[in-house]
Amino acid sequence: MNAHIITLPGDGIGPEVTREGVRVLEHIAKRFGHSFEFEEHLIGGCAIDATGEALTSATLDACKRADAVLLGAVGGPKWDDPHAKTRPEAGLLGLRKGLGLFANLRPVKPHPALAYASPLKPEKIAGVDFVVVRELTGGLYFGKPQGRFDDAEGGKTRAVDTLEYSDVEIKRIVDLAFRLAAPRRARVTSVDKANVLASSRLWREIATETARAYPNVKLDHLLVDTCAMRLVAAPASFDVIVTENMFGDILTDEAAVLVGSMGLLPSASLGSHALKGVAMGVYEPIHGSAPDIAGKAIANPIGTILSTAMLLRYSLNLGQEADAIERAVERAIGDGCRTADIAREGERVLSTREMADEIMARL
Ligand code: IPM
Ligand code: MG
Repeated sequence: MNAHIITLPGDGIGPEVTREGVRVLEHIAKRFGHSFEFEEHLIGGCAIDATGEALTSATLDACKRADAVLLGAVGGPKWDDPHAKTRPEAGLLGLRKGLGLFANLRPVKPHPALAYASPLKPEKIAGVDFVVVRELTGGLYFGKPQGRFDDAEGGKTRAVDTLEYSDVEIKRIVDLAFRLAAPRRARVTSVDKANVLASSRLWREIATETARAYPNVKLDHLLVDTCAMRLVAAPASFDVIVTENMFGDILTDEAAVLVGSMGLLPSASLGSHALKGVAMGVYEPIHGSAPDIAGKAIANPIGTILSTAMLLRYSLNLGQEADAIERAVERAIGDGCRTADIAREGERVLSTREMADEIMARL
């Protein structure tokens, strides 16, 4: 297969981990007889520095033409000025919106050999295997009005964000969660705040309605605060969690703690053709730019490498190749390969490159 892949390394440790993701994809191409062509573009803070914009229309257009996008991370203290005209994060939000990627999949499956790295007791971690399906182009991060407003009268300053969802937006994301759950343990947990928010009451109503088309999948509803608690109290009880944009953002950082390190988790952002053979998507580790360790060659590349597996599976329909990467990562961890974030005292610590090499050696 021929595929055209855009890379958006971004800021902080983004370039370091993206480089390793590309090497893994090149390795896969050679081994399985594919031809992957890569084209690099700027996003986030580095794009602001170079062009004044976090995402240029040229970059967005290049992504639209591609088969898939591999992204590193955006942001950092350099661009944190609250009065700045634009922020690196606007590039990421613009990319998701511009490509229509309304579904963000974040699988959480701790490796048994890393149980010590989680602050939870090993018996709580045992059997954890769930996916969070986060709505990605609506809700609080996109609703209008949004911004600061200086009231002429009284000299008061207000800031407003709007949480809005339409039935169509809710239906398409919940539907995807059901399709994802069917071949798994067939359980969907829809997370909302229906005891307070009108948008959540609509969410719950549409989720219940959507469930009728999937009689073999069990749906339950959970309030987001309860869900936050249950994620650490009984994480193994979840199969597929589907939720609003900001709830999903918060819950997935919490979920990352279960596996032992933010550096381990991949994600896929998908649009309307998701789970139907081939679909354009953006693939990125969930860890962010980690400016404190940038440039030190110690970042964990596993989140990115597992993201390349999701890229192969969801955008190129290369399930076998994706499985091969996931197995290689599992074996590397099982064999004791450790980057600094998951190493115990006295264990040999691998650099970003060395960890990727160990994984490729097991491919
Ligand atoms: C994430 C990140 C982003 C988000 C930020 C960087 C805009 O936290 O992918 O979870 O909130 O979506
Ligand atoms: Mg986040």
